[in-house]
Amino acid sequence: MLKKDLTLLKEGLVDFYIYNIDKGSIPSKSMNVFYNKKMEINRDITTLAINAYSDLYDQKNLIIIDSMAASGISSIRILRECKNIKKIFINDINPGANKLIKKNIKLNSLNKAPVKIIITQKDANLLFSEIITNKCKHLNQTQKKPNIISIDPFGTPNLYIDSAFKTIQKTNGLICITATDTAVLFGVRPNVCIRKYFAKPLHTEYCKEIGGRILIYFLSRIANINKIGIIPLLTFYSGHFIRVFCATFKNQEIITKYFKNFGYIIHCNNCGYRSSFGNDILELPKECPLCANKIKLDYAGPLWIGKIHKINFIKKMLNLNENFKFSNKKRIEKLLLFAIEENNMPISYYNLHKLCQNLKLTSVPKIKDVISVIKENGYHSSRTHFDFLSIKMDSDIFSLKKILTDIQK
Ligand SMILES: C[S@@+](CC[C@H](N)C(=O)[O-])C[C@H]1O[C@@H](n2cnc3c(N)ncnc32)[C@H](O)[C@@H]1O
Repeated sequence: MLKKDLTLLKEGLVDFYIYNIDKGSIPSKSMNVFYNKKMEINRDITTLAINAYSDLYDQKNLIIIDSMAASGISSIRILRECKNIKKIFINDINPGANKLIKKNIKLNSLNKAPVKIIITQKDANLLFSEIITNKCKHLNQTQKKPNIISIDPFGTPNLYIDSAFKTIQKTNGLICITATDTAVLFGVRPNVCIRKYFAKPLHTEYCKEIGGRILIYFLSRIANINKIGIIPLLTFYSGHFIRVFCATFKNQEIITKYFKNFGYIIHCNNCGYRSSFGNDILELPKECPLCANKIKLDYAGPLWIGKIHKINFIKKMLNLNENFKFSNKKRIEKLLLFAIEENNMPISYYNLHKLCQNLKLTSVPKIKDVISVIKENGYHSSRTHFDFLSIKMDSDIFSLKKILTDIQK
């Protein structure tokens, strides 16, 4: 690989190469080595999450596995931007990626760093399995298990989750999972979602939240069969991906108590009613509690109906964001602040543009004005990071429609 075949780029605090032939191509599987500038925010968030985790969970000497590293940009940024790292596995099955990772490590003079860097070219499941069965010469039986595993595949991460939970530290591990199969999770291809995630999605105005909750449910169930529970720390949607950060724990009684986080969403396609229900399918309504329609009632699930973020984790990330000069800094701040706001609100959100159109109103009021009026009416309301044109509220859709119509008057 010659320097003339490579293009130098910059992201976060680092310079890195991609292949010339990949420059300007639409990010896809067919690239020589994958790189997507639009996923920079995913890597920014990962840097913040790892630093927040190390501080809040008091984890030092971190062992990290970046199981699908492509150019290695995420790992290189982690090495430059995160503290307390002892060892990192930078893996990708693609031989071109493996060569590029080595080049990028050298470019950033990380080959001289005190951190142990292990660059491998394996199927992610094989790498996990070698670590689990002590066949990995870089991690012997006497050493602790990896603290952090990142999975960032093309499409669904589902095939890698079981071995990731077998590999990770059972208490206070950090699992970072991306899914880009949003058409599946957001309900455009419901049967594929049932096949891949054991859950029925719904293609509604709040399908992004449903998709995130299906992913957490799936992670939780696979964790459970490995005698692990998970606590969602941040569930992050941006552009065309969902990235979930979860901490692990192994107390079996708490794992059982966490079953209360599994449930369903009932949605009425006649009036727009929506609500979450617990795991007991016998308690699910058979007709819409608002308009009594029986035919147009639909559901999503099973999915995670508990909290999808941990507030102290996000606050720590917000503080850390202040100290970085990420080009996405302002957007990250906005997304994280909305994530804090939405965490105590009921599942689902209402897209004001769609609602106003539906009500044949001549204009869409400002979101902040709608939220103030809702609060004046004695309800709670918030923004949501899933959709900047939507709001959450704790009353039903009829009250919201009345409020919007009154504002118009
Ligand atoms: C979306 S890209 C990863 C992007 C990268 N994390 C970044 O931030 O730029 C997915 C990568 O997974 C690799 N990959 C696909 N299947 C794999 C497998 N079974 N094991 C390991 N790597 C795999 C691909 O070669 C590709 O580089």
